[in-house]
Amino acid sequence: MSTTVDEDIRSLLARSAAEVDDALRRCLAGPEHTPLRLLEAMRYSIDAGGKRLRPILTLWCCELCGGDRSAAMPAALAVECVHTFSLIHDDLPALDNDDLRRGRPSSHRQFGEAAAILAGDALLALAFEIVSESDVKPRIAVAMIRELAGATGWRGMIGGEAADLEGETLPPDARLVQTIHSAKTARLIEAACRLGAFAAEATASQLDALGRFGHELGLAFQAADDLLDLTGTTEALGKPVRRDAVSGKQTYPRAVGMEASRRIAEEAVERAVAALTSFGDVSGKLVSLARFVVERDR
Ligand code: IPE
Ligand code: IPE
Ligand code: MG
Ligand code: MG
Ligand code: MG
Repeated sequence: MSTTVDEDIRSLLARSAAEVDDALRRCLAGPEHTPLRLLEAMRYSIDAGGKRLRPILTLWCCELCGGDRSAAMPAALAVECVHTFSLIHDDLPALDNDDLRRGRPSSHRQFGEAAAILAGDALLALAFEIVSESDVKPRIAVAMIRELAGATGWRGMIGGEAADLEGETLPPDARLVQTIHSAKTARLIEAACRLGAFAAEATASQLDALGRFGHELGLAFQAADDLLDLTGTTEALGKPVRRDAVSGKQTYPRAVGMEASRRIAEEAVERAVAALTSFGDVSGKLVSLARFVVERDR
Protein backbone atom coordinates (compact mmCIF):
# COMPACT_ATOMS: atom_id res chain seq x y z
CA MET A 1 0.00 0.00 0.00
CA SER A 2 2.97 2.34 0.68
CA THR A 3 3.63 3.59 -2.82
CA THR A 4 6.05 6.47 -3.51
CA VAL A 5 3.13 8.89 -3.73
CA ASP A 6 2.02 7.77 -0.26
CA GLU A 7 5.48 8.41 1.16
CA ASP A 8 5.62 11.84 -0.45
CA ILE A 9 2.20 12.84 0.80
CA ARG A 10 2.99 11.59 4.30
CA SER A 11 6.06 13.81 4.59
CA LEU A 12 4.28 16.80 3.02
CA LEU A 13 1.44 16.38 5.53
CA ALA A 14 3.86 16.00 8.43
CA ARG A 15 5.68 19.21 7.50
CA SER A 16 2.47 21.24 7.23
CA ALA A 17 1.11 19.69 10.44
CA ALA A 18 4.25 20.80 12.30
CA GLU A 19 3.72 24.35 11.04
CA VAL A 20 0.12 24.29 12.27
CA ASP A 21 1.18 22.81 15.63
CA ASP A 22 3.63 25.69 16.21
CA ALA A 23 1.06 28.33 15.35
CA LEU A 24 -1.57 26.71 17.59
CA ARG A 25 0.85 26.67 20.50
CA ARG A 26 1.49 30.41 20.05
CA CYS A 27 -2.25 31.00 19.87
CA LEU A 28 -2.92 29.36 23.25
CA ALA A 29 0.04 31.00 25.00
CA GLY A 30 -2.19 33.52 26.86
CA PRO A 31 -4.07 35.32 28.24
CA GLU A 32 -2.74 34.87 31.77
CA HIS A 33 -5.96 35.76 33.59
CA THR A 34 -7.95 32.87 32.09
CA PRO A 35 -8.84 30.40 34.87
CA LEU A 36 -5.86 28.08 34.62
CA ARG A 37 -7.81 24.82 34.50
CA LEU A 38 -9.87 26.01 31.55
CA LEU A 39 -6.81 27.00 29.54
CA GLU A 40 -5.11 23.75 30.57
CA ALA A 41 -8.08 21.76 29.25
CA MET A 42 -8.09 23.71 25.96
CA ARG A 43 -4.37 23.09 25.48
CA TYR A 44 -4.68 19.44 26.49
CA SER A 45 -6.95 18.63 23.55
CA ILE A 46 -5.24 20.91 21.03
CA ASP A 47 -1.70 19.78 21.95
CA ALA A 48 -2.62 16.10 21.69
CA GLY A 49 -2.00 16.44 17.97
CA GLY A 50 -4.31 14.87 15.47
CA LYS A 51 -3.71 14.82 11.77
CA ARG A 52 -4.43 18.56 11.28
CA LEU A 53 -6.16 17.65 8.02
CA ARG A 54 -8.54 20.62 8.04
CA PRO A 55 -5.98 23.40 8.63
CA ILE A 56 -3.65 21.78 6.09
CA LEU A 57 -6.47 21.91 3.54
CA THR A 58 -6.96 25.61 4.27
CA LEU A 59 -3.25 26.33 3.72
CA TRP A 60 -2.92 24.17 0.60
CA CYS A 61 -6.12 25.49 -1.01
CA CYS A 62 -4.91 29.07 -0.41
CA GLU A 63 -1.63 28.26 -2.14
CA LEU A 64 -3.40 26.52 -5.00
CA CYS A 65 -5.29 29.76 -5.67
CA GLY A 66 -2.06 31.74 -5.72
CA GLY A 67 -2.30 33.10 -2.16
CA ASP A 68 0.35 33.29 0.52
CA ARG A 69 -0.15 30.66 3.22
CA SER A 70 0.42 33.26 5.95
CA ALA A 71 -2.87 34.90 4.89
CA ALA A 72 -4.65 31.58 5.45
CA MET A 73 -3.03 30.62 8.76
CA PRO A 74 -5.56 32.34 11.09
CA ALA A 75 -8.47 30.68 9.29
CA ALA A 76 -6.59 27.37 9.37
CA LEU A 77 -6.13 27.62 13.14
CA ALA A 78 -9.76 28.63 13.55
CA VAL A 79 -11.04 25.57 11.71
CA GLU A 80 -8.83 23.32 13.88
CA CYS A 81 -10.25 25.01 17.01
CA VAL A 82 -13.79 24.30 15.81
CA HIS A 83 -12.83 20.71 14.97
CA THR A 84 -11.18 20.13 18.37
CA PHE A 85 -14.26 21.58 20.09
CA SER A 86 -16.38 19.12 18.09
CA LEU A 87 -14.21 16.19 19.25
CA ILE A 88 -14.33 17.19 22.94
CA HIS A 89 -18.13 17.44 22.84
CA ASP A 90 -18.51 14.35 20.60
CA ASP A 91 -16.81 12.26 23.32
CA LEU A 92 -19.02 13.50 26.18
CA PRO A 93 -21.19 10.93 28.01
CA ALA A 94 -24.32 12.55 26.54
CA LEU A 95 -23.00 12.06 22.99
CA ASP A 96 -20.65 9.16 22.09
CA ASN A 97 -19.37 8.55 25.64
CA ASP A 98 -15.82 7.74 24.57
CA ASP A 99 -12.88 7.61 26.97
CA LEU A 100 -9.93 8.04 24.63
CA ARG A 101 -9.11 10.75 22.08
CA ARG A 102 -5.91 11.51 20.23
CA GLY A 103 -4.16 8.85 22.28
CA ARG A 104 -5.09 10.41 25.63
CA PRO A 105 -7.99 10.11 28.08
CA SER A 106 -10.77 12.22 26.54
CA SER A 107 -11.26 15.70 28.00
CA HIS A 108 -14.15 14.78 30.29
CA ARG A 109 -12.20 11.79 31.65
CA GLN A 110 -9.21 13.98 32.39
CA PHE A 111 -10.89 17.18 33.64
CA GLY A 112 -14.51 16.23 34.38
CA GLU A 113 -17.59 16.91 32.32
CA ALA A 114 -18.10 20.57 33.22
CA ALA A 115 -14.53 21.49 32.30
CA ALA A 116 -14.77 19.56 29.02
CA ILE A 117 -17.98 21.36 28.05
CA LEU A 118 -16.41 24.72 28.85
CA ALA A 119 -13.12 23.94 27.08
CA GLY A 120 -15.12 23.07 23.95
CA ASP A 121 -17.20 26.25 24.23
CA ALA A 122 -14.06 28.35 24.68
CA LEU A 123 -12.37 26.80 21.63
CA LEU A 124 -15.45 27.57 19.54
CA ALA A 125 -15.38 31.23 20.61
CA LEU A 126 -11.61 31.40 20.12
CA ALA A 127 -12.02 30.28 16.51
CA PHE A 128 -14.07 33.37 15.67
CA GLU A 129 -11.78 35.64 17.65
CA ILE A 130 -8.78 34.38 15.65
CA VAL A 131 -10.48 34.94 12.29
CA SER A 132 -11.68 38.41 13.27
CA GLU A 133 -8.11 39.38 14.21
CA SER A 134 -6.58 38.06 10.99
CA ASP A 135 -4.77 40.44 8.71
CA VAL A 136 -7.16 40.18 5.73
CA LYS A 137 -9.49 42.78 4.25
CA PRO A 138 -12.65 43.29 6.36
CA ARG A 139 -14.91 41.90 3.62
CA ILE A 140 -12.76 38.75 3.45
CA ALA A 141 -12.88 38.39 7.24
CA VAL A 142 -16.67 38.66 7.17
CA ALA A 143 -16.88 36.05 4.39
CA MET A 144 -14.64 33.74 6.45
CA ILE A 145 -16.71 34.22 9.61
CA ARG A 146 -19.92 33.50 7.69
CA GLU A 147 -18.40 30.38 6.15
CA LEU A 148 -17.14 29.02 9.46
CA ALA A 149 -20.37 29.82 11.31
CA GLY A 150 -22.50 28.15 8.63
CA ALA A 151 -20.33 25.05 8.56
CA THR A 152 -20.32 24.76 12.36
CA GLY A 153 -23.92 25.53 13.29
CA TRP A 154 -27.29 23.89 12.93
CA ARG A 155 -26.94 23.35 9.17
CA GLY A 156 -23.41 22.01 9.57
CA MET A 157 -21.39 20.06 12.10
CA ILE A 158 -23.65 20.64 15.12
CA GLY A 159 -26.77 19.81 13.10
CA GLY A 160 -24.99 16.67 11.91
CA GLU A 161 -24.12 15.66 15.46
CA ALA A 162 -27.80 16.08 16.40
CA ALA A 163 -28.85 13.95 13.41
CA ASP A 164 -26.18 11.37 14.30
CA LEU A 165 -27.68 10.98 17.78
CA GLU A 166 -31.26 10.80 16.47
CA GLY A 167 -30.09 8.19 13.96
CA GLU A 168 -29.20 5.80 16.80
CA THR A 169 -32.93 5.13 17.25
CA LEU A 170 -33.65 4.49 13.55
CA PRO A 171 -33.17 1.43 11.33
CA PRO A 172 -30.02 1.43 9.11
CA ASP A 173 -30.60 3.68 6.11
CA ALA A 174 -27.86 4.52 3.57
CA ARG A 175 -29.52 7.79 2.54
CA LEU A 176 -29.65 8.92 6.15
CA VAL A 177 -25.96 8.00 6.53
CA GLN A 178 -25.14 10.28 3.60
CA THR A 179 -27.18 13.15 5.12
CA ILE A 180 -25.47 12.76 8.50
CA HIS A 181 -21.97 12.52 7.01
CA SER A 182 -22.61 15.53 4.83
CA ALA A 183 -23.56 17.71 7.80
CA LYS A 184 -21.36 16.45 10.64
CA THR A 185 -18.12 16.07 8.69
CA ALA A 186 -18.17 17.11 5.02
CA ARG A 187 -19.50 20.63 5.55
CA LEU A 188 -16.60 21.63 7.84
CA ILE A 189 -14.01 20.06 5.52
CA GLU A 190 -15.66 21.96 2.65
CA ALA A 191 -15.35 25.14 4.73
CA ALA A 192 -11.67 24.42 5.44
CA CYS A 193 -11.05 24.43 1.68
CA ARG A 194 -13.20 27.48 0.99
CA LEU A 195 -11.48 29.43 3.79
CA GLY A 196 -8.17 28.91 2.00
CA ALA A 197 -9.73 30.17 -1.22
CA PHE A 198 -11.10 33.24 0.58
CA ALA A 199 -7.64 33.99 1.99
CA ALA A 200 -6.24 33.93 -1.55
CA GLU A 201 -9.07 36.16 -2.82
CA ALA A 202 -9.87 33.38 -5.29
CA THR A 203 -12.34 33.69 -8.16
CA ALA A 204 -15.92 32.48 -7.72
CA SER A 205 -15.23 29.42 -9.85
CA GLN A 206 -12.11 28.49 -7.84
CA LEU A 207 -14.11 28.89 -4.63
CA ASP A 208 -16.87 26.70 -6.01
CA ALA A 209 -14.45 24.00 -7.22
CA LEU A 210 -12.61 23.84 -3.90
CA GLY A 211 -15.92 23.72 -2.02
CA ARG A 212 -17.01 20.73 -4.10
CA PHE A 213 -13.60 19.10 -3.63
CA GLY A 214 -13.82 19.57 0.15
CA HIS A 215 -17.35 18.26 0.43
CA GLU A 216 -16.65 15.07 -1.51
CA LEU A 217 -13.39 14.60 0.38
CA GLY A 218 -15.32 15.02 3.65
CA LEU A 219 -17.82 12.34 2.61
CA ALA A 220 -14.93 9.99 1.80
CA PHE A 221 -13.23 10.90 5.06
CA GLN A 222 -16.24 10.00 7.25
CA ALA A 223 -16.94 6.82 5.25
CA ALA A 224 -13.29 5.84 5.91
CA ASP A 225 -13.70 6.75 9.61
CA ASP A 226 -16.69 4.40 9.88
CA LEU A 227 -14.67 1.63 8.19
CA LEU A 228 -11.71 2.26 10.50
CA ASP A 229 -14.01 1.84 13.50
CA LEU A 230 -14.35 -1.78 12.32
CA THR A 231 -10.93 -2.49 10.84
CA GLY A 232 -8.55 -0.13 12.69
CA THR A 233 -6.70 -0.31 15.97
CA THR A 234 -6.87 1.88 19.06
CA GLU A 235 -3.07 2.20 18.96
CA ALA A 236 -3.07 3.71 15.45
CA LEU A 237 -6.24 5.77 15.76
CA GLY A 238 -5.78 6.99 19.34
CA LYS A 239 -9.48 6.44 20.02
CA PRO A 240 -11.68 3.47 20.92
CA VAL A 241 -12.70 1.09 18.10
CA ARG A 242 -15.78 -1.14 17.49
CA ARG A 243 -17.96 1.54 19.09
CA ASP A 244 -20.38 2.47 16.31
CA ALA A 245 -22.33 -0.81 16.33
CA VAL A 246 -22.62 -0.73 20.14
CA SER A 247 -24.27 2.71 19.93
CA GLY A 248 -26.43 1.75 16.94
CA LYS A 249 -24.85 4.46 14.76
CA GLN A 250 -25.97 5.05 11.20
CA THR A 251 -22.91 3.93 9.21
CA TYR A 252 -22.35 2.63 5.69
CA PRO A 253 -20.88 -0.70 6.89
CA ARG A 254 -24.08 -1.29 8.87
CA ALA A 255 -26.40 -0.10 6.07
CA VAL A 256 -24.71 -1.61 2.98
CA GLY A 257 -21.76 -3.78 4.15
CA MET A 258 -17.98 -3.37 4.01
CA GLU A 259 -17.41 -3.82 0.28
CA ALA A 260 -20.06 -1.31 -0.77
CA SER A 261 -18.80 1.11 1.91
CA ARG A 262 -15.31 1.01 0.45
CA ARG A 263 -16.75 1.63 -3.00
CA ILE A 264 -18.76 4.61 -1.72
CA ALA A 265 -15.61 6.11 -0.16
CA GLU A 266 -13.56 5.57 -3.32
CA GLU A 267 -16.26 7.06 -5.55
CA ALA A 268 -16.40 10.17 -3.35
CA VAL A 269 -12.61 10.52 -3.64
CA GLU A 270 -12.84 10.29 -7.42
CA ARG A 271 -15.54 13.00 -7.44
CA ALA A 272 -13.28 15.13 -5.21
CA VAL A 273 -10.36 14.68 -7.61
CA ALA A 274 -12.60 15.51 -10.59
CA ALA A 275 -13.54 18.82 -8.94
CA LEU A 276 -9.87 19.87 -9.19
CA THR A 277 -9.60 19.36 -12.96
CA SER A 278 -9.65 23.08 -13.79
CA PHE A 279 -6.52 23.65 -11.66
CA GLY A 280 -4.42 21.25 -13.76
CA ASP A 281 -1.18 19.66 -12.53
CA VAL A 282 -0.60 22.14 -9.71
CA SER A 283 -3.36 20.45 -7.71
CA GLY A 284 -1.26 17.24 -7.46
CA LYS A 285 -0.68 17.62 -3.72
CA LEU A 286 -4.42 17.83 -3.03
CA VAL A 287 -5.09 14.86 -5.32
CA SER A 288 -2.54 12.78 -3.34
CA LEU A 289 -4.11 13.96 -0.08
CA ALA A 290 -7.56 12.90 -1.31
CA ARG A 291 -6.35 9.39 -2.24
CA PHE A 292 -4.52 9.15 1.10
CA VAL A 293 -7.75 9.80 3.02
CA VAL A 294 -9.23 6.42 2.05
CA GLU A 295 -5.95 4.50 2.48
CA ARG A 296 -5.07 5.87 5.91
CA ASP A 297 -4.89 3.73 9.04
CA ARG A 298 -5.21 6.63 11.49
C1 IPE B 1 -12.28 12.71 13.68
O1 IPE B 1 -11.58 13.59 12.85
C2 IPE B 1 -13.72 13.04 13.61
C3 IPE B 1 -14.31 12.81 12.30
C4 IPE B 1 -14.88 13.76 11.62
C5 IPE B 1 -14.29 11.48 11.73
P1 IPE B 1 -10.04 13.35 12.54
O2 IPE B 1 -9.82 11.93 12.16
O3 IPE B 1 -9.58 14.39 11.58
O4 IPE B 1 -9.37 13.59 13.97
P2 IPE B 1 -7.94 14.16 14.33
O5 IPE B 1 -8.02 15.65 14.16
O6 IPE B 1 -6.92 13.55 13.41
O7 IPE B 1 -7.74 13.78 15.77
C1 IPE C 1 -17.71 12.69 14.60
O1 IPE C 1 -18.00 11.48 14.04
C2 IPE C 1 -17.85 13.84 13.75
C3 IPE C 1 -17.73 15.07 14.54
C4 IPE C 1 -18.35 16.12 14.18
C5 IPE C 1 -16.91 15.13 15.75
P1 IPE C 1 -17.55 10.27 14.94
O2 IPE C 1 -18.24 10.26 16.24
O3 IPE C 1 -17.58 9.05 14.10
O4 IPE C 1 -16.01 10.67 15.18
P2 IPE C 1 -15.03 9.80 16.07
O5 IPE C 1 -15.00 8.41 15.46
O6 IPE C 1 -15.54 9.82 17.46
O7 IPE C 1 -13.70 10.49 15.89
MG1 MG D 1 -20.02 10.97 17.05
MG1 MG E 1 -17.41 9.83 18.20
MG1 MG F 1 -16.10 7.52 14.09
